[in-house]
Amino acid sequence: MSAGRTVEPGGVEAKEEPRLLVVLHGANLDLLGERPAVHYGTVTLAELESRVTAEARRLGWDCLCLQTNHEGCYIDRLHEHRRAGAMIVNPGAWTHYSYAIRDALELVRCPVAEVHLSDIASREQWRQRSVVSEVASFTITGKGPDGYLEAVRRLVEMSGG
Ligand code: DQA
Repeated sequence: MSAGRTVEPGGVEAKEEPRLLVVLHGANLDLLGERPAVHYGTVTLAELESRVTAEARRLGWDCLCLQTNHEGCYIDRLHEHRRAGAMIVNPGAWTHYSYAIRDALELVRCPVAEVHLSDIASREQWRQRSVVSEVASFTITGKGPDGYLEAVRRLVEMSGG
């Protein structure tokens, strides 16, 4: 193993995880509830994750919720779960410029929902572009936590129930 390498060449093994919904939040979303309520509301990440998990379970799916403030870690998790049953991603500000996350998402085998709490299309110009949309199955913005619940239902439906 050479210096700086954390996995052997060949990449991370990914298990088949049918009927597992992976929800992956990026930078600063750990502080939901403290971020500007005008854009993000008042719900905390723990509350949001518990609502998403309950909706997935109601439909007979398991749910794994993860959050990181480190872009490389986000990519590692995408690799690790690329054979999950379905995925919801909100990469936070990385949405707007991370081609590395965009390329990692291209390797994810399952349906992927890109979800944003706020309506990025009506905010600052730099937020209006998403570099990940083209590799997501669909995108939901501006619906707050309800957008996540809608994403769960659409992903489960796309996966055949
Ligand atoms: C966000 C929108 C992004 O522009 C922002 O950087 C976030 C959250 C949303 O959920 O509305 O961190 O992805």
